[in-house]
Amino acid sequence: MQIIKKANDLRLAVSDARKNGKTIGFVPTMGALHRGHISLVKRSKEETGFTVVSIFVNPSQFGPKEDFNKYPRDIEKDGSLLEKAGVDLLFFPDASEIYPEGLSTWVEPGEPAKILEGERRPGHFRGVCTVVLKLFEIVGPDFAFFGQKDAQQFAVLDRMVKDFNMPVRMIECPIVRDHDGLALSSRNAYLNETERRAAVIYHKSLQNALGLIEKGERNAEAIIESIKRTVETEPLAKLDYAEIADAGTFKKSTDLHGTTYILIAGFIGATRLIDNIKITID
Ligand code: PAJ
Repeated sequence: MQIIKKANDLRLAVSDARKNGKTIGFVPTMGALHRGHISLVKRSKEETGFTVVSIFVNPSQFGPKEDFNKYPRDIEKDGSLLEKAGVDLLFFPDASEIYPEGLSTWVEPGEPAKILEGERRPGHFRGVCTVVLKLFEIVGPDFAFFGQKDAQQFAVLDRMVKDFNMPVRMIECPIVRDHDGLALSSRNAYLNETERRAAVIYHKSLQNALGLIEKGERNAEAIIESIKRTVETEPLAKLDYAEIADAGTFKKSTDLHGTTYILIAGFIGATRLIDNIKITID
């Protein structure tokens, strides 16, 4: 596995791979890698001939009171996980490579970025879009792989790619979960043992909602109510939101039809977690 820190060196390495007839797959990450990230790498390896992973903890997507400083960083461990997974190239830039002095152009995402995470985390998706646009410009991938774990992020980025006519195929990959159903996340490392046990309530609340839907419930309010009631049974949990959004437009839905996400965010102690399920009603 090549490890590259400079954008220009990366361009050369990718163009060599292209000359050898390889299609390029790209998995952007912020490191502290787990099986969720590795599942994206596996998918990229299945579908492309040359897999690039980036590790960059992007300061501009963290709010002033958020966890940028304490976000877990372990490049040694990440490097060996990626090597083992068969990644061709790791891009691990310094902040000055991505945010050179004087940078003053930003991507302002539209509608899908306005609700839920966008509402609670002002500027978050502006930071995500700007860094992903820059990474796409540097890597020039044919395919890019993202997790459904961050469903709104996927919707916002997918919109950006369409809006800017970018020649990248966006692939959304399923959520990888722990043995009890908790969605894997780098932020799960913040949970102590008691909190970790409590955190499963968010997955349970989605499973209960799914049970209702299987019995025929289609009303968003009723489904959201059931999620609230389930989360309330866990004293350490505090729900931030539960909403239903259309998978295409990411507008809130009042009932289930077509493909929708049921999305939740909530706290366990000071740790904020998100999760969702994707439902298609024929
Ligand atoms: P990060 O949180 O490191 O996630 C990188 C990718 O891994 C994202 O596409 C995310 O959805 C996916 N992922 C995380 N947990 C997952 C799980 N349990 N199952 C499947 N996929 C999972 O998302 C970011 O970084 C950043 O916002 C980034 C896109 C890199 C821009 O800075």
